[in-house]
Amino acid sequence: MRIAIGSDHAGYEFKDAIKSHLREKGIEVLDFGPNNDEASDYPDYAKIVAEKVSQDPEYDLGILICGTGIGMSIAANKVKGIRAALISTKFTAESAKVHNHANVITFGSRVSKIEEVLEFIDIFLEADYSEESRHKRRVKKMDEIG
Ligand code: RB5
Repeated sequence: MRIAIGSDHAGYEFKDAIKSHLREKGIEVLDFGPNNDEASDYPDYAKIVAEKVSQDPEYDLGILICGTGIGMSIAANKVKGIRAALISTKFTAESAKVHNHANVITFGSRVSKIEEVLEFIDIFLEADYSEESRHKRRVKKMDEIG
């Protein structure tokens, strides 16, 4: 599995912790920036990561972190083919995978603790994309918008 990750300044520390967590599990993570915690604009990194996931089949998932996770999810969802989900609970971590077939997940460093975020990521990774027809139909309808 290959994951693309990005943040802004607010998500920079979480990005490093998430990278370490995933690499300890043997998951390949490519960091698309930023390379420091100086002020940066979340749409810049959302665009890079979302385009990687939508255009390069070698990427299975994108992870984006900003202060709230909101800006990252709004920006990533502008890219065709992206289903970005803001995750803030165990329930939304599982639902984003099973129901929504999210291919980008976003987190807020000013909303969730890092320990929670790592747990949410594990839950998302361990869940399956539902094969049930109602979920597949709804995902298809989402992908047909725009
Ligand atoms: C940066 O201050 C903050 O606005 C950003 O990280 C994010 O929360 C936007 O959605």
